Amino acid sequence: MNQNPDIEKKRKPVYGWILHLHPRKVRESTLRFSLTFGLGGMAAVLVVLQVITGLLLKFHYEPSPENAYNSILNLQDSLLFGRMLRNIHHWSALFLLWTAFLHMLRVLFTGAYRKPRQANWIFGLALILLVVLSNFTGYLLPWDQLSYWAVTISTSLLAYIPLAGNFIREALLGGKDVGQATLTNFYNLHTGIIPVLMVAIMGYHFWRVRRAGGVITAEKDRESPMVDTQPHLVNREFVVAIVLLAIIFLISSLFDAPLRERANPSFSPNPAKAPWYFMGLQELLIHFHPMFAIVVFPVTVMTAACWLPYIKLSDANQGIWFLSANGIKSAKFSLIAGALFTVLFIGLSELLPDPELLLPSVPSIVTKGLVPFLILIVTLYFFLGFIRKKFSLNRAEFIQSVVIIMIASYAVLTLTGIFFRGEGMNLVWPWQV
Ligand code: HEM
Ligand code: HEM
Repeated sequence: MNQNPDIEKKRKPVYGWILHLHPRKVRESTLRFSLTFGLGGMAAVLVVLQVITGLLLKFHYEPSPENAYNSILNLQDSLLFGRMLRNIHHWSALFLLWTAFLHMLRVLFTGAYRKPRQANWIFGLALILLVVLSNFTGYLLPWDQLSYWAVTISTSLLAYIPLAGNFIREALLGGKDVGQATLTNFYNLHTGIIPVLMVAIMGYHFWRVRRAGGVITAEKDRESPMVDTQPHLVNREFVVAIVLLAIIFLISSLFDAPLRERANPSFSPNPAKAPWYFMGLQELLIHFHPMFAIVVFPVTVMTAACWLPYIKLSDANQGIWFLSANGIKSAKFSLIAGALFTVLFIGLSELLPDPELLLPSVPSIVTKGLVPFLILIVTLYFFLGFIRKKFSLNRAEFIQSVVIIMIASYAVLTLTGIFFRGEGMNLVWPWQV
């Protein structure tokens, strides 16, 4: 702690703005890296990096189907550090998606979504949605074969939403197909509306962390001493930020952001795949009726995610990774079971006869929707009952296990879609994709 007032005065201008984000003192126990892994801070650094590199890209990029692709080629080949700039924007977008996702898992697995942090969980959900949307809208901008067809496939999924599906799709595309209006819409969303919303929500998100009295700590650590934010927290944050930036710059100097041939609306690649983060949904669509794959599953998951922080939980294990020893055991078991069950499900759905062909007179929303959905729910019900008993789980540990099963399942669907689907979206080995 620094007691010299002159030095304190000199420090003020440098650290003043940082201290707007932080209180003057923080609890020593919250400084432990393994509590948060600095993931929220890393996500914040990455958003700033995206805004800076994005604004610089805007000087060179032309948002029209005729010129977009050429402007990227020009940027890469003729502008000093142009390729590096594009690479940094590309790789840090990927890092941001992963960092925000891992930060969300950190919050989940330390039980930090509960009162008084419920609102921050909900605003966090809005943030991750914006991160996905900025990745998705940015995807189209290079206007190459990969981006054109990935956006065509992903937006065609929207048409399955009952009643409003086509309206939403056409409003986003600005017409029936991906074209100039789509590029204009995506460009405006990507470089205007989404970043503005994101930065505004982030400001509120940080303020809520302060209002909750800092990040969560385990009960036993709540009486740990208070220490000065500067240097104790600020110095650690700088180290994390610098290491993160160094890794991104290194990757960007070694690996180029992908760019295929110019978009050709009359030639669709086979298979045409959505961006990787939507591949789980595209895979689900192979097994379920679109109404279930695109509407019932995602809406159920999103509703459950919003409801999560309001469920009454009595245990006091917040601030502890995976809540308890039982929580850890059940988490491991759920992870393996969720993954194996999904692999089995994909295998069976490949080997068993197609219910639509078997019972052509029954509507496919029943044979490929309601029936498999109910089978899934009943299986899950019995399985969850089994692990609840096996590990004597309380409600918080139980919810954690459900979340882990869902994540494991979506991960297997995504990996299958990316690595095991070839021509005609048939199952193949990864080297045949
Ligand atoms: C969280 C924020 C952001 C994310 C996740 C993001 C993501 C992306 C992605 C994935 C691409 C495609 C990159 C590629 O492979 O070519 C892209 C392109 C682009 N972004 Fe962003 N971006 C963000 C913010 C911004 C901002 C704030 C601007 C400008 C104000 C911007 C401007 C651009 C431009 C001009 C391109 C086209 C150049 C290119 O594709 O290389 N981005 N963005
Ligand atoms: C752009 C994305 C995001 C940024 C920049 C961000 C930033 C931060 C930061 C800096 C913190 C405090 C330090 C830390 O926990 O690492 C924090 C805490 C928190 N964040 Fe985020 N966050 C983002 C996304 C999310 C998401 C996706 C969720 C959940 C859905 C979420 C929920 C929370 C909650 C509940 C806290 C309080 C945790 C606690 O007190 O221990 N955030 N966030």
